[in-house]
Amino acid sequence: MNRMEPHFLAIFMIALSFPLFVQSLVRHYNFSVVLKNETKLCSTKSFVTVNGKFPGPTLYAREDDTVIVRVTNHVKHEVTIHWHGIKQLRTCWSDGPAYVTQCPIKTGQSFVYNFTITGQRGTLLWHAHITWLRATVHGAIVLLPKRGIPYPFPKPDKEKIIILGEWWKSDVEAVVNQATNSGLPPNISDAHTINGYPGPAPGCISQGYTLHVESGKTYLLRIINAALNDELFFKIADHKLTVVEADASYLKPFETDTIFLSPGQTTNVLLTANKLVGKYLIATTPFMDAPIGFDNVSSTATLHYKGTPSYTKTILTSIPPLNATPITKTFTDSLRSINSNTYPTKVSSTIDHSLLFAITVGINPCDTCTNGNKLVSAINNITFLMPTTSLLQAHYYNIKGIFTDDFPANPPMVFDYTGTNQPDNLHTENGTRVYRLNFNSSVQIVLQGTAMIAPENHPFHLHGYNFFVVGQGLGNFDREKDPLRFNLVDPVERNTLSVPNNGWVAIRFRADNPGVWFLHCHLEVHTTWGLKMAFIVDNGRGFNESTLPPPKDLPKC
Ligand code: C2O
Repeated sequence: MNRMEPHFLAIFMIALSFPLFVQSLVRHYNFSVVLKNETKLCSTKSFVTVNGKFPGPTLYAREDDTVIVRVTNHVKHEVTIHWHGIKQLRTCWSDGPAYVTQCPIKTGQSFVYNFTITGQRGTLLWHAHITWLRATVHGAIVLLPKRGIPYPFPKPDKEKIIILGEWWKSDVEAVVNQATNSGLPPNISDAHTINGYPGPAPGCISQGYTLHVESGKTYLLRIINAALNDELFFKIADHKLTVVEADASYLKPFETDTIFLSPGQTTNVLLTANKLVGKYLIATTPFMDAPIGFDNVSSTATLHYKGTPSYTKTILTSIPPLNATPITKTFTDSLRSINSNTYPTKVSSTIDHSLLFAITVGINPCDTCTNGNKLVSAINNITFLMPTTSLLQAHYYNIKGIFTDDFPANPPMVFDYTGTNQPDNLHTENGTRVYRLNFNSSVQIVLQGTAMIAPENHPFHLHGYNFFVVGQGLGNFDREKDPLRFNLVDPVERNTLSVPNNGWVAIRFRADNPGVWFLHCHLEVHTTWGLKMAFIVDNGRGFNESTLPPPKDLPKC
């Protein structure tokens, strides 16, 4: 037998190198947007879902596969779906944010999203990208490495998806409409969910989710924060978690007992079932280090070892304090990209566009609102107004009057952003203004938090790109000193980052994907208030450097 092995090996090697064996696939999915009637969660209500599932179906693909999703809208709301974190190289039309890259899919209509997975593997999420529908219209995206390519960490025995969500007993669209009409903050949610179950949250009669494990086995947990407005901690009693990936980018592995995720972020961890057979509490709890009303209800699930006798009591865990800023900081500081030969970290050392974006909350007049004014939010004092046709269509067809490309690169007024002396004028300027980037330019954005009205953490998400988080700190960004401490060696690469309360973050990316790309706070309440803007990345001159033509079935406004 032994003498035969080299032959088998040779045949195997030839087979592997033959292109037919490494072919990528086209994966087809049908997403029906339908109402689901729920009686088991915290209240009886009907809510919008994909295929009647909450959370929605998981989308699986391998690197290099093409994914084709036909989305058909059977509800009265207009819908779009965003593939959060998918780079959408040249396929901006399939990105999904309403009025940014497409007009919404109307009742009874369909739209086919078509994109290829290029240079990405890991966990992401898809979600509705119009009003607040993503509260219940979301699901996991699992991008497997190319066939035959292993993970850069020990192969887990099994993989599990864990989606954290946020649940309102009432209709979520009614919640946001009421907030918009009154100008006041929206009602906070009633529970957090783990894979669709609130656990024993007040007023919710529901069992929690059970994560079944077998002693000695290792599990890859793909954890997703699909909540609308809450940053969350995630913890399992007595068990360590080895963090190996964030936002579909590999990390240098590290051990922790608490994971921290902002809405839109994903984290893969390895969990080994190496404790006594039994039941262990899984907890997800919110993080908030500002005096702002929020849903402080913890939700729980159970880690259940095979063979646990039914009378066994669940082993409990302590939970992080609600304002556990040090835990968030330790966790974020531990995130380092893998930067290996196979997965190099390519951070640009030169910068073509250096932007400073100040994040503020303001108050604008509103005759019809409860107090005669309304809460708004702004980047560089611009409260972004959504256009009535998509920015991408306006850009592609050169339709005038939809947007201007004069988004300010710096705050209109320099002030002590995080100090106690804040400007008295709280009004912002409305505008549909974008920032234009030439193809392949290297961009640095410093997102600067401010103390205006309500300083808090802001998870910012950039569409169409991953960026490197090269630096962060508390207080005001110092243009001279802070860049000297930037990490250009192994900064974490991601698509959503948390700008710390009264602090700043610096990110870099290369504008090598043409199209119109949304940048916004992934707290839906702030997106609603206007904390958003868009980049236009012009086409390059080379082959494969321009946006593809629009699909024939692109919805009309
Ligand atoms: Cu996950 Cu523009 O959003």
